[in-house]
Amino acid sequence: MNKYVHGYSSHESNRLHDQADSLADLLHYDSIWEEDSIILEAGCGIGAQTKIIAPKNLSSKFVSIDISLKSLEQAKTIANTNKINNVEFQQADIFELPFEDEYFDHIFLSYLLEHIPNPVDALIRLKKVLKKEGTITVIEGDHGSTYFHPDSDIAKKAIQCQVELQKQNGGDANIGRKLYPLLSQSGFKDIKVSPRQVYVDDSNPDWVEGFTKNTFTAMIKGISKEAISKNLIGKKEFEKGIKHLNRTAEGGGTFCYTFFKGIGTKD
Ligand SMILES: C[S@@+](CC[C@H](N)C(=O)[O-])C[C@H]1O[C@@H](n2cnc3c(N)ncnc32)[C@H](O)[C@@H]1O
Repeated sequence: MNKYVHGYSSHESNRLHDQADSLADLLHYDSIWEEDSIILEAGCGIGAQTKIIAPKNLSSKFVSIDISLKSLEQAKTIANTNKINNVEFQQADIFELPFEDEYFDHIFLSYLLEHIPNPVDALIRLKKVLKKEGTITVIEGDHGSTYFHPDSDIAKKAIQCQVELQKQNGGDANIGRKLYPLLSQSGFKDIKVSPRQVYVDDSNPDWVEGFTKNTFTAMIKGISKEAISKNLIGKKEFEKGIKHLNRTAEGGGTFCYTFFKGIGTKD
């Protein structure tokens, strides 16, 4: 059984790009660092955020790393297609960073800590390669922040399968609410966490498509085989849960989810 890691299948790649595109303004209106910065993007995956943040910071240089060569290849293709020239992609493990201490002015990472069992360890390692007074920016979701209309216990059960699978794989799908304590335990100062709530209703058909259907429901749909084979839920029940999630994207439905963006500074 493949471990559940976002970004490795083509279904997941498409989903991550849809997610990044529909959330670009909400999450990245303030992803702007001072000119001429050298910025580490840790766990860039297929470049879904790279393609948004690099063009907003044209005088800065990004070093975007990931452990997966396959994802990096996709990220490079996306960067080339979008004519992005201020990013250098490199294969690297955040737990064995091949950079000098205090090399980077700033660090950015999204949806990475939720997949690893030791987020504080990861943040401490990243802090080593960050200059004094440099900042780290972390974006994470929190599945516990999901509510919708029409409400459905079966849809909530399907979502809970994702939370459970991620836990079994050493991750935490409810990590968003923990960003402040995680950054604090890792020794960062001046921490600010801002919740970024997605609220979708009929008045915003782009978000109904881009977020409710193609980001959130697609993510839950993506775990169907694993959730069923591990007996977390029956096939019929899971399908009904997906149907109920899709119902929130039909006329009269609404959907809420909160991301968290945390910024800390190195002493
Ligand atoms: C969910 S993806 C997020 C990708 C991207 N940040 C985004 O927001 O679309 C998590 C990424 O972290 C990478 N990753 C996981 N563990 C890592 C590690 N120890 N070092 C570097 N990258 C890692 C995975 O390969 C995957 O591409």
